[in-house]
Amino acid sequence: MILVTAANGRTGRSVVAALARRGHNVRAFDIARDLEELRDLGAAQVIVGDMLNPGDLSRALEGVRAVIHIGPPLHPREAEMGHLVVAAARRAGVEHLVQFSVTHPQLEPLLNHQAKLAIERVVLMSRMAFTILQPMHYMQNIDIARVTASGVLSQPYDLNTRLAHVDLQDVAEVAALVVTNAEHHHATYELCGADYLNAHQLAAVISAESGRLVTAEQVPVADAFRVARASSSQRVSEEDDFRRDAMVRLFDHYGRYGITGNPNVLSWLLGRPPTRFDQYVRRHLTQDSPSSPPSGAAAE
Ligand SMILES: NC(=O)c1ccc[n+]([C@@H]2O[C@H](COP(=O)([O-])OP(=O)(O)OC[C@H]3O[C@@H](n4cnc5c(N)ncnc54)[C@H](OP(=O)(O)O)[C@@H]3O)[C@@H](O)[C@H]2O)c1
Repeated sequence: MILVTAANGRTGRSVVAALARRGHNVRAFDIARDLEELRDLGAAQVIVGDMLNPGDLSRALEGVRAVIHIGPPLHPREAEMGHLVVAAARRAGVEHLVQFSVTHPQLEPLLNHQAKLAIERVVLMSRMAFTILQPMHYMQNIDIARVTASGVLSQPYDLNTRLAHVDLQDVAEVAALVVTNAEHHHATYELCGADYLNAHQLAAVISAESGRLVTAEQVPVADAFRVARASSSQRVSEEDDFRRDAMVRLFDHYGRYGITGNPNVLSWLLGRPPTRFDQYVRRHLTQDSPSSPPSGAAAE
């Protein structure tokens, strides 16, 4: 049995589907009340629970051979959740932990990278077999249907700064590939696509593929925050404050420095070149992608 945490999120759903395609027995764990859709994606079992609750984690880890731990992004208690999952996995005698991190967790001014670095440290000290996956900014942060409908690619940082991307489907394939293969024990893999494009260049690719004029537009960080805000209540929660601070730092960093990595490791793991941005756009123009968020939201 393989446990996937945060299974109902964007990454979790892709990972559950990739595991099921390979015939793995999957248990999906998430705080969301209704996880039935995860059964349609191939999860054999679903468990509703809170990663901050050790009792819920012990229940989720019963009889589990491997864990793919995904944490909620831009969450003030993400590091704590990671620590609790690692501790519970050790107690349960799990054979292999796959940790979803981020490319360059050592970029400590970024709050989300800080959390990932803290979890990586605990994983390294866990005495468990582990594989750390460090994905780049997902292509899925760009909602092709929305962008082609509006003719605008909006992003909350400088339009001239280049960023690398990776296709979440490639990342999910890798997670499903490494989780049961001991050859990947004690490895840390940077997972990055080969494109390194600024917003104008991304818009040009979408225009060329869709045949519709798409232009890039910079929007205030507050716009992206409003789209990504978790709480539907009018009151600003502690989580909202943290998320906004994290997004301000992240988008300031992206605008000034960009972010990139190297595609070689991902090519080697997949046995083919990583999906290019134009291929991602084409795939989304020919199929529905209901899991995509609004453009610029929850970007990382
Ligand atoms: N987006 C990117 O470009 C990118 C790149 C590299 C790495 N990553 C990393 O990938 C990870 C997943 O991101 P994502 O976009 O897939 O996240 P997501 O869609 O927001 O999914 C997170 C899931 O975790 C659930 N959750 C929240 N608190 C929980 C708790 N206490 N216990 C159990 N479940 C809980 C959420 O439920 P609710 O929705 O009900 O709160 C949601 O279903 C993050 O760690 C992120 O940093 C993302």
